[in-house]
Amino acid sequence: MTAAAEAEASRILLDNVSISYETDHGRLQVVDRVSLTVDKAEFVVLVGPSGCGKSTILRAIAGLNAAESGSITVDGRRVNGPPEHIGFMFQKDTLLPWQTVRENIEVGLALAGVSPSLWTKRVAELLALLRLSEFRDAYPAQLSGGMRHRVSLGRMLAYEPAVMLMDEPFGALDFQTKAVMGRELLRIWEAERRSILFVTHDIEEAVALADRIIVFSPRPARILAEHRIALPRPRNLRALRASTDFTGYTRAIWEALGSEEE
Ligand SMILES: Nc1ncnc2c1ncn2[C@@H]1O[C@H](COP(=O)(O)OP(=O)(O)OP(=O)(O)O)[C@@H](O)[C@H]1O
Ligand SMILES: [Mg+2]
Repeated sequence: MTAAAEAEASRILLDNVSISYETDHGRLQVVDRVSLTVDKAEFVVLVGPSGCGKSTILRAIAGLNAAESGSITVDGRRVNGPPEHIGFMFQKDTLLPWQTVRENIEVGLALAGVSPSLWTKRVAELLALLRLSEFRDAYPAQLSGGMRHRVSLGRMLAYEPAVMLMDEPFGALDFQTKAVMGRELLRIWEAERRSILFVTHDIEEAVALADRIIVFSPRPARILAEHRIALPRPRNLRALRASTDFTGYTRAIWEALGSEEE
C-alpha cells in the first residue's frame, strides 16, 4: 500500500515517530521510531512497562506534545495541535466538581457544537446508555469512583469523537466495576464503531477488548510485538476468560512483555 492509501484507510497513522523531553539532566529519549496505525472502527490496545512512553504517544496524537521526528496523521491530516474529533479520557477523571452529571455531559455537547435545543434528549440517551439516569442532578462528589468514570465516558461520547484515546481509563477501578465498564465500552463501540486507542496494564483487559495489541519495550518505547486478537465478537467477557484461546493470547502477551528480561 502506498503511504497515501494507508493514510486514507487509517484514522491514526504514526510513521517512524521519535519523541524526547528536555530535562534538567539533558535530553530524555522516550519514544524510538514507532510506526503504527489504527484503522476505522478498530480497537487497538497498547501495553508496556510503566514509564516506557505510552502516555507520551497518546498525548502526541492528541497534539499535546510534539514529535521530534517522523509524522503523526489523524484522518489524513498531519497533527500539529489538537485535531478535531479526538476524545481523550485520562486515567484520573477530570469532571468539574461544581457541575452536576448533566452539566458535565453538556460540556461535551457544547464542545461538539451540538445545538442546545438537542441537549436534553442527548443527555437522557447517554445517561440511559451508561445506566446513570437516576443521578442526572447529582454532583461528582456524590458518586462512586466507577460512576464518575462512567460520567467521563459519557462526556467523551457526547463529544462524538471519531477517535477515542483512552489512557488507563479503568486503571483505578475494582475488578467488578472494571468488568462492567469494559462491557459498556464494548457495547458502545460495537454499536457505533469508533476507532479506539486504549492503554492498560491489565493484560486480560487488553485481550478481552482488543482487535490488536501492541507491546512496547521499556523506555524508550519501541514496538516489541503486535498481536491480532481473533476472538469472535460480540464478546461475552465472562465466557471468554475461560476459553483456551483467551489464555493463549494472554500468555503470548506476557511473553512478549518479558522478552527483554531473558
Ligand atoms: N513533561 C515531561 N517532561 C519530562 N519527562 C517526561 C514528561 N512526561 C513524561 N516524561 C518521562 O517520559 C517517560 C515516559 O512517560 P509516560 O508518561 O509516557 O510513560 P507511560 O508509559 O505512560 O507510563 P505509565 O504506564 O506509568 O503511565 C518517563 O520516564 C517520564 O518520566
Ligand atoms: Mg501513562
